[in-house]
Amino acid sequence: MSARFATHTAGQPAAIRDLTATPTSLGITWTNGSRSVFNALWLRHSCACPLCQQASTGQKLLSISDLSPETRIVDAMLAPDGSLRVRFAPDGHLGLYDTAWLAFETTRAPGGPEPEHEQRETGLRLWGAALADALPAFDWKDIQSGGSHRNGWFTAVVELGFALLRNVPAEPGYIETVVSSFGRVRENRLGRTFDVKFVPDPSNLAFTAKGLSVHTDNPYRNPVPGLQLLHCLENAAAGGHSVVVDGFEAARVLKSEDPEAFDLITSVEVPFRYKTEDVWFEAAAPVVAVDRNGQPKQVRYNNRSMLAPRAPLERVGDYYAALRHFAEILERPDLTVTFKMAPGDLFVVDNHRVLHGRTAFSDSAPRFLQGAYADPDWIESRYRLGNRPF
Ligand code: OGA
Ligand code: ZN
Ligand code: ZN
Repeated sequence: MSARFATHTAGQPAAIRDLTATPTSLGITWTNGSRSVFNALWLRHSCACPLCQQASTGQKLLSISDLSPETRIVDAMLAPDGSLRVRFAPDGHLGLYDTAWLAFETTRAPGGPEPEHEQRETGLRLWGAALADALPAFDWKDIQSGGSHRNGWFTAVVELGFALLRNVPAEPGYIETVVSSFGRVRENRLGRTFDVKFVPDPSNLAFTAKGLSVHTDNPYRNPVPGLQLLHCLENAAAGGHSVVVDGFEAARVLKSEDPEAFDLITSVEVPFRYKTEDVWFEAAAPVVAVDRNGQPKQVRYNNRSMLAPRAPLERVGDYYAALRHFAEILERPDLTVTFKMAPGDLFVVDNHRVLHGRTAFSDSAPRFLQGAYADPDWIESRYRLGNRPF
């Protein structure tokens, strides 16, 4: 998908066929025929030799003020160990580079191909209802044994924004063990985890037996929790199906059907609020925030906490039409995936992208889910550890 990860997922070690040095740039032709050009200052700044980068920590020793504006390339060669060496003037420094790293950086270095999703360094796979035919489901026992299963799980969460785990012990609190297997719990208003079950005097519609239309959690928080986990402990009630939908795919559909509605949804700020006697969380943002290439980077959508939009007076009517259109897309059967969680099932969603909800259930039989949040960079960190060759 995204060009950024292509060099890795192709699974080939990055090999250099040819080097062309000029004072201001270094051209590399790779064995697969592609070409990259690196700027001299950029390369000097990126040097990985022990003088510029401390070996044990990987942290930079070179500071910006040490970089001469006169920096030029004198020559470049491949060392017998496969690393790239570049000689610079005026400091006479001999730069050292890992070629696999350079191949990866080629897509982000100045002059590299512009990635479609500016924010993402990973492949992004948009999905609709067909995902139900091959749910990204993993067995917790396999995940615990590590290796490729774990990596498959992290990859699904990063690239699809959704993955299921099965056979997770249906014990209260076990969700924390799952979060600890890749990161740390991000605490919420209620503590480290929260219980989703029917209670007589609920503080949230989630704790009733009503259906919940698809939403992202806590759009009123700053920052909004990045990963949400929901673990099913009991689900004997009739109904109570889970629904997920890819918000980036829904945004793509909206843009293709109605570009003006997409412009409104991505530009007009909407306040989200959660207010009780004790707390007043509030944050305003467009329902779909986009990066500088106009690609979705964060969806915030929650009927329960969304207030009226901050649209210019003459656009309010249009804004509601756009929002209604987006809401209608989010409910489409060809976009949504519906499944019933059984005790021991646990799903993870990228709460900046994938919306989740549930159908109403009968309160005559027990239904008990536990939820937890984590910052998204924990899973991105695992993904990098599992996928990168340098
Ligand atoms: C929630 C929620 C889903 C469910 O509590 O935020 O979305 O299946 N719950 O109860
Ligand atoms: Zn150096
Ligand atoms: Zn929710």
